[in-house]
Amino acid sequence: MTFPGVRPRRLRALPALRSMVAETSVAPGQLILPVFVGEGLSEPKPITSMPGVVQHTMDSLKATAVEAASAGLAGVMIFGLPEHKDAQGSQALAPDGILTTALREVRAEVGDACLVMSDVCLDEFTDHGHCGVLTADGHVDNDATLEIYAEMAVLHAEAGAHVVGPSGMMDGQVGAIRSALDRAGHPQTVILAYSAKYASAFYGPFREAVNSSLSGDRRTYQQDSRNLREALREIELDIAEGADIIMVKPALAYLDVIAAARAACDLPIAAYNISGEYAMVEAAAANGWIDRERAIEETVTGIRRAGADVVLTYWALELARSVGR
Ligand code: PBG
Repeated sequence: MTFPGVRPRRLRALPALRSMVAETSVAPGQLILPVFVGEGLSEPKPITSMPGVVQHTMDSLKATAVEAASAGLAGVMIFGLPEHKDAQGSQALAPDGILTTALREVRAEVGDACLVMSDVCLDEFTDHGHCGVLTADGHVDNDATLEIYAEMAVLHAEAGAHVVGPSGMMDGQVGAIRSALDRAGHPQTVILAYSAKYASAFYGPFREAVNSSLSGDRRTYQQDSRNLREALREIELDIAEGADIIMVKPALAYLDVIAAARAACDLPIAAYNISGEYAMVEAAAANGWIDRERAIEETVTGIRRAGADVVLTYWALELARSVGR
């Protein structure tokens, strides 16, 4: 028997060899930190299903945004939690509403040192918890919701958002927002489109994070987890409507969607490493069942390897420190 001498293990023998041939990296500038700010809070409020994540006060939010900028993160994605909710989600359009105020204050604090991003959606603002307003018979009214999203996006841009992130999965939301922004004199505002957003059980902890009052589910507007081609169609439509960056969400059960999106389009791709994905790792680590730091790095590296340029993750600050080591 002639031994061929082919030994893949040769390149795994030393840390320097492994680093030299590593195909994937995670850099702070590719990470976005999602943050929650609660109206009327006097101190940060822990989210029990997301250990380590809080609902911020305005002050702790600003301090966190400054930390994000100095850690070299790409940006912060801000979710606002109003004290008062109603069927129309009217606080979403209030000029002094919690999200608009947070965008204004964070932008004044960080300037262009990191990107200020906003969630353009109604679910944090409606008492029924849906991402849009409802028709008389209780369905989510697509086109009426588009008008509100368009107004919201303009309000966010005026408050200082560099990037708006429509996450409600209404048909035509990117086009409606793009033309409203352009008409209002904000042609430079970037649209990070939640293009392929699936109805998912993994959003569970987010419901606590945003004090959600949703009963039922979002299956009439978010995507069915059995579908891949449908995601590519959604992405194609968002690109045609003017999206600058497209997003796949959740990340871990949808790595194939990220890979297919990468192959199908040339736009930058983001993926959202969501609340339930965070909670699973934290819970297992808290039980001593997995090595927390390694699991976090492996999770985010896997999302990058699948093809995501940008990752939204609640571990962004911690990862920026560890990958910068
Ligand atoms: C909608 C929105 C959701 C998340 C981000 N934006 C919830 C949903 O669609 O049900 C979930 C993020 C996470 O779970 O971490 N505004």
